[in-house]
Amino acid sequence: MSKTKNQKLLDWVAEVRAMCKPDDVQWVDGSTAEYDRLMQEMVDCGAAIKLNEKKHPNSFLFRSDPSDVARVEGRTYIASRKQEDAGPTNNWIDPVELKKTMSKLYDGCMKGRTMYVIPFSMGPIGSPIAKIGIEITDSPYVVDNMHIMTRVGDKVLETLGDDGEFIPCLHSIGAPLEDGQEDVAWPCAPLDKKYIAHFPEENLIWSFGSGYGGNALLGKKCLALRIASNMARREGWMAEHMLILRLTNPAGKQFHIAAAFPSACGKTNLAMLQPTIEGWKCECIGDDIAWMKIGPDGRLYAINPEAGFFGVAPGTSMDTNPMAMLTLKSNSIFTNCALTDDNSIWWEDMGVECEHAIDWKGNEWTPDSGEKAAHPNSRFTAPARQCPVICEDWENPAGVPIDVFVFGGRRSAVVPLVTQAYDFDHGVYMGATAASEATAAALDVKAAMRRDPYAMTPFCGYNMADYFAHWFEMGDALGDKAPKCFYVNWFRKTEDGKWLWPGYGENSRVLKWMCERVDGTADAVDTPIGMIPTPDGLDTTGLNITDEELSQLLEVDVEQWKDEIPLVEEFFQKFGDKLPERMRIQFANLVERLDA
Ligand code: GTP
Ligand code: SPV
Ligand code: MN
Repeated sequence: MSKTKNQKLLDWVAEVRAMCKPDDVQWVDGSTAEYDRLMQEMVDCGAAIKLNEKKHPNSFLFRSDPSDVARVEGRTYIASRKQEDAGPTNNWIDPVELKKTMSKLYDGCMKGRTMYVIPFSMGPIGSPIAKIGIEITDSPYVVDNMHIMTRVGDKVLETLGDDGEFIPCLHSIGAPLEDGQEDVAWPCAPLDKKYIAHFPEENLIWSFGSGYGGNALLGKKCLALRIASNMARREGWMAEHMLILRLTNPAGKQFHIAAAFPSACGKTNLAMLQPTIEGWKCECIGDDIAWMKIGPDGRLYAINPEAGFFGVAPGTSMDTNPMAMLTLKSNSIFTNCALTDDNSIWWEDMGVECEHAIDWKGNEWTPDSGEKAAHPNSRFTAPARQCPVICEDWENPAGVPIDVFVFGGRRSAVVPLVTQAYDFDHGVYMGATAASEATAAALDVKAAMRRDPYAMTPFCGYNMADYFAHWFEMGDALGDKAPKCFYVNWFRKTEDGKWLWPGYGENSRVLKWMCERVDGTADAVDTPIGMIPTPDGLDTTGLNITDEELSQLLEVDVEQWKDEIPLVEEFFQKFGDKLPERMRIQFANLVERLDA
């Protein structure tokens, strides 16, 4: 039974019910009892495996269909009325045509299943920055993940009230059950029937055919980035693919850093960083998305709209990210990880040996199998409040004031460990030309390297050239209160393919330099691409690194950077006349500095 009198919501639910024809409808109340009941149903039908209660209390493992393991960028659409408004970096379909196609797919798609109505809030309930969404889904896995990733249930409906606004998010796995047909563990539709669709002019999301991550947990990439980026542009704020952290120096001064790295390029790790330098403290506010508004004092304030972490499992260990390991200890959902003989979970580079397991596809696995035991994009869903270093202000409705923006990507060569932008406009250029090597976070991105402006290529819900312009405008509005901009690369490699930089907790050394630059206490060396630390500028106390390695890490090879110029030029050409003039100026300045 619904507990709302919001007529718009009741009408929409009735309309979807008539189209999708589920066997019944359940309104999600957000209670623990509800979470447990759905999980038990999934265990009973074989969709979930309960993990060892001693090692991972109240935690469960799911194995997806092998075809449904990551976001599908090629099937993700921005259906604005005009193609120009989606721009050259998005897939566009005419909204009328797309609705026609998808309505056919939705017709009867929930037959044999329950339709769940999930009221959720992105951001602390009632915060002036928060937004309410309603996700309708036929996946109980999605319901329980949304319980962790967002604030769900009755309290959201109360806040919505009788005439409050919400963002409708329709999701179906696209696998109706005929009478008597037996279900599979992970029902979904084939790739050519998958659609992750956004109608930005209506603030509407329609997703069909996938049950995985950002394709299905619609509060995350669909609402909090693709739709929210549109709202942010209209309303003068920012919705970014950024972690948020608080760094406190030995004198007790706080700095807040927001960093944009592409998927699987280190946001969750940096967000929970444990500094290796004396006296510095780091606390986590968010690991994936930042919503930022200019506050009454003219500074930029950020909130994390999410309530949980949907983190990459492989590579997470007590050495690399102990705070994540402690966060996911209990009350967590694991997807596509390996199952050990004692009913615990395992993945590559977890820091412990595993002699035998059941791999993510459900097959016997040993280290000699020649395949990965966990899928490279296997993930944990864990409540943010369980993070031992969660910041006391992580749910502060006013947000935290951002001092530093960091951009970056995964580059095995060319790009130095850290560079500071000469000014905000130069920072906008750095973010716009960010590039990264492909990862497993998207199923269909195979290019060795792609430009990924602000790590938003898959998530900017409108024309990227207009988004560049929005960045410049935000800079103008912030004036001298704008965050200082930096570019980092943790992933530079030696010629024989080893990491040059130890990364993880050691990244605190780079963050310290940024804070000292903000305070004006550290010097920098000018290079054509930006400012880098002086030879003794980075605190390397206790770090096992040679001067030779350090100079390699900070090297700016002018010839290599000149080779990048035609690539940037080609990238900018995509945007035609829409490319802001100020971006052309930044580009020309860089070319001039490289030629000097
Ligand atoms: P999404 O959740 O997809 O947005 O990814 P993310 O940006 O949060 O990436 P995450 O922190 O999960 O890191 C992805 C992978 O990069 C993991 O396998 C990490 O172990 C690895 N990684 C993260 N930080 C570092 C680092 O500083 N150095 C190195 N070498 N690897 C890192
Ligand atoms: C990403 O790919 O950037 C993620 C995972 O954070 S997903 O939620 O699947 O988008
Ligand atoms: Mn992400």
